[in-house]
Amino acid sequence: MHIHCLINGEPGDTLAISDRGLHYGDGLFETLAVRDGVCEFWDRHMQRLHAGCERLCIAPPEFAQLAAEARQLTHSIERGVLKIIVTRGSGGRGYRVPDTAHPTRILLRSDWPTYPRDNAEQGVRVRLCTQRLGTNPTLAGLKHLNRLEQVLARLEWDDPTIAEGLLQDHTGHVIEGTFTNVFLVQHGKIVTPALDRCGVAGIMRAVVMELATAAGIDCTERAVTLDELVAAEELFLTNSLIGIWPIQELEHWQGRATPGYGYGPGPVTRSLQTALQCLK
Ligand SMILES: Cc1ncc(COP(=O)(O)O)c(C=O)c1O
Repeated sequence: MHIHCLINGEPGDTLAISDRGLHYGDGLFETLAVRDGVCEFWDRHMQRLHAGCERLCIAPPEFAQLAAEARQLTHSIERGVLKIIVTRGSGGRGYRVPDTAHPTRILLRSDWPTYPRDNAEQGVRVRLCTQRLGTNPTLAGLKHLNRLEQVLARLEWDDPTIAEGLLQDHTGHVIEGTFTNVFLVQHGKIVTPALDRCGVAGIMRAVVMELATAAGIDCTERAVTLDELVAAEELFLTNSLIGIWPIQELEHWQGRATPGYGYGPGPVTRSLQTALQCLK
């Protein structure tokens, strides 16, 4: 049998209906790129998962066990995706956490997504979503299971030529994409939105910030306005699977003038793509 899913270490793909991940989104997840049997940036993903568990007061999984299970699913895979979900476990009437709750760990392997090659080489078209991200400092940065804002945002378009939608918070600051983080290049320096009020602190975002710093490119996290986005010299998106995608075009949005420019993959974006290739 070709196993693609382990739940608490056992092959299978059914979950107790009492699992709090289902009822309350009470848990966390990680999505890892697998290449030649290796889960890329494993330690960083484990650190984020551990930090997330601490913030949500979920007992963190045994990481050696998780690593062994991940290996079991991925060791023979040339290219693929491993999703790890940790929920608080089953039970409890209402929100109260039962004393007996044992976290559920789910490891799910899937095929590598078929993104067009041009996305990384030529860049992508991006829209601005009308859906906003709520402010929630307690959950900001976490890759928790509540993703309704992203689901609603992704319902806003079905034009396959648009690869991603950007989201603002309720004050109008740009935060991230539906499944990516966003970076701007201004005067040759890199800026990425601060994620202390909402957004997911991406693994690739951290990797890119470190690569930039190592290359002597100044890198700042701070609030970013739409006007800055439109005026940026270069824009790019990151996540663990796509690596770095340059933003080539911002689609017309909400009465604002269509920028009508092609950013193209600028020199800073290109140099970071090259640095990332060397790291892998
Ligand atoms: C909402 C959101 N932001 C950012 C990211 C990027 O995170 P990472 O770099 O860890 O893949 C993701 C990834 O799925 C995401 O869903």
